[in-house]
Amino acid sequence: MKSDPQKLTAVREASDWAPGSWLRKPVTQQPAYPDLAELNRAVAQLSELPPLVTSWEVLALKRKLADAAEGRCFLLQGGDCAESFADCNSSLITNRLKVLLQMSVVLVHGLKLPVVRLGRFAGQYAKPRSTDTETRDGVTLPSYRGDLVNDAEFTAKARTPDPQRLIEGHSKSALTINFIRSLIDGGFADLHHPEYWDLGWVQHSPLQEEYRHMVEAIGDSVRFMETLAGESIGNFSRVDFYTSHEALLLHYEQAQTRQVPRQWGWFNLATHFPWIGMRTATLDGAHVEYCRGIRNPIGLKVGPTVTPDALLRVIDVLNPDNESGRLTLIHRMGAANIQAALPRLLDCVTAEGRRVLWTCDPMHGNGETLSNGVKTRRFENICAEVDHAFDIHAAHGTRLGGVHLELTGENVTECLGGARDLTETDLARAYKSTVDPRLNYEQSLELAMLIVRKRGHVGEPLTQK
Ligand code: PEP
Ligand code: CO
Repeated sequence: MKSDPQKLTAVREASDWAPGSWLRKPVTQQPAYPDLAELNRAVAQLSELPPLVTSWEVLALKRKLADAAEGRCFLLQGGDCAESFADCNSSLITNRLKVLLQMSVVLVHGLKLPVVRLGRFAGQYAKPRSTDTETRDGVTLPSYRGDLVNDAEFTAKARTPDPQRLIEGHSKSALTINFIRSLIDGGFADLHHPEYWDLGWVQHSPLQEEYRHMVEAIGDSVRFMETLAGESIGNFSRVDFYTSHEALLLHYEQAQTRQVPRQWGWFNLATHFPWIGMRTATLDGAHVEYCRGIRNPIGLKVGPTVTPDALLRVIDVLNPDNESGRLTLIHRMGAANIQAALPRLLDCVTAEGRRVLWTCDPMHGNGETLSNGVKTRRFENICAEVDHAFDIHAAHGTRLGGVHLELTGENVTECLGGARDLTETDLARAYKSTVDPRLNYEQSLELAMLIVRKRGHVGEPLTQK
C-alpha cells in the first residue's frame, strides 16, 4: 500500500507536539501575570471563541508563498509596528489598506507580477522588549509589551499584565478583519476605481504624477482586457488580503490553535501567517516549539548574528518536510551589515537544498536613537538595505521574493528623509508611534517605486530621485 506522507506527518506531530507543548520549553518575552487562575480563565474563554481566519485561506496563502519563492509573484507584507486598541477605527484601518493597495498597484505594474498582500494587522498587538522593566524617576514598573498585555501609561495599574486583554485583542482583531473583508467584498480594491484609495495627496507631492501615470496605465490595461473578453473580469474587482502578526504571546496563539474537519493537523486560526521574531527564534525555545506544530505558513526573522549552521537547524525543525511555501525567511540585517551577513546564509540554504521564500525587512536593522532620545530610521538606509538585498540575491542565484515593512497610511513624521526630506525638526510634528518609527504613506509609495526601478537595475546602485 502506498503511504501518504501527509498522514505520516500528522501521526508524528500528534505524538510529540500539542498546542501547549511549548510550556515544556524555555520561554522568553512572556508577561508575568499576577493571577494565574485569571489567565487560565481567559485562555479557556478564548479557546471557545470563533476563529478569525479559515484553514483553506491559510493553505491558499501557503500556495501563494510557494509561488513567490519561485518568482511567480511578489510578497508585500506591511503594517504597523504594533496596532493599538485605540487605533481600531475605520479611518486608520482604511488608510492602511489604501497605502498597501497603492503600493501593490505600483509593484504589479512595475514588476509585472501578481502581488500577495499580507497585512501586519488584525492581531499585531504584542511586542518583544529588551528589558522586563522600565524605570522612570526612581520608579520601576513592568515594560509595556503591547496592548494585548498591558497599557503604555506609566502607572502600576496600567502596566500590570491583564489577561482580559487577550479577549479584547481577539475582539479588536475580529473587528479589524471584518471591516477589511467587507471593504474588499464591497469593491474597495476594485482596479477600475483606484480613486477609492486616494489618500488626499498634497498638490506638490513629488510622486503624484508618476503614481497617476501608473494608475492610468493599469486602468487602460484592465479596459483593454475587458474589451477583448467582451465582459467585465471579476478578478479585477477583488484582491485578497491576508493577515499576519508576530506569534509572541503563546497563550494567545495556543488558545486559537484548532483542528478542523477534513484536514489533518493543527492550524493557528488567529492569523494566516504567524512569524517568529528575532528575539524568540531560539532552536530549543518555546516559540519555535509552538510554530513547528501548526500547518500555517511561518515567518522567521533572521538577524545579522545568525550562523549558517544555526539557521539550517531551525529550518529543519520548522520545515522538516522541506515543503514549499511553509517557511519565509525574513532577513533584517541593517544596511550596514547586509553585505557581510547575508551571502553565507543564502549560500548554505541553497547548498543544502532547503526550500524557503526569502524576503527583506529593511526596518528592524536600521533603527537609531537621536541625541534627544527619539527613535527613528533613515529612509536612505531603508532603501539601501532593499537595494543591496536585490543585488546580493542576484549575485548568489537566489530570489528576493518580497519585502516586510512598517508603515502607516497616515501623514506621520517618524522616519527621516524621503522625497520631502524630513529632518530631525520635522519629527516632532507628527510622531505618533509608541514603538518603532513607521514609513508614512508618501515614503511607503516612494519605496514601492524604488523597488520597481531597481528591477531594471539589479547590480547597479539605486538612486532615490
Ligand atoms: C517586528 O517585526 O516588529 C520586530 C520586533 O522585528 P524583529 O523581531 O526582527 O526585531
Ligand atoms: Co517594529
